[in-house]
Amino acid sequence: MAETLTLSGTSKHEQYTSLLPQIRALIEHETDPVANLANVAAALRQTFNFFWVGFYRVQDNELVLGPFQGPIACTRIAKGKGVCGAAYEKNETQLVPDVDLFPGHIACSSLSRSEIVVPVHNAVGEVIAVLDVDSDELNAFDEVDQTFLEAIVALIKNV
Ligand code: SME
Repeated sequence: MAETLTLSGTSKHEQYTSLLPQIRALIEHETDPVANLANVAAALRQTFNFFWVGFYRVQDNELVLGPFQGPIACTRIAKGKGVCGAAYEKNETQLVPDVDLFPGHIACSSLSRSEIVVPVHNAVGEVIAVLDVDSDELNAFDEVDQTFLEAIVALIKNV
């Protein structure tokens, strides 16, 4: 796989449609989880210029910061805490249009205004990590992001 990303499409839907197979090609023959998580975060940042995008991995029933792109972030998040901890505990994507209205939101950065957090699963459906994407604008994410980010994390086999 050549280490280049072809950015194409004008709508978000088109951009994700172009990105998805490129991410598949980027990670399918690599077994090292850090390499793959790092490239997925970088590909999303390069395509959409998200404020913060990255992974928290489940270790001993808490979330520990993994590969990401963006400002430094909180290193550990307890199960159930904040948006990431809610996605982990409930095993459900959390789409948060205004972080100030989310009870218990963890403000790693005061610039973060909206976010989406998507669980990453193992083969039996347990949460092994979460993908966290933050924006410095309100209401930045919708069902298109949810559909494609869930499809992208489904490509990740181990963390
Ligand atoms: N806002 C997240 C914490 C992680 S960072 O923003 C990178 C949350 O409430 O889970």
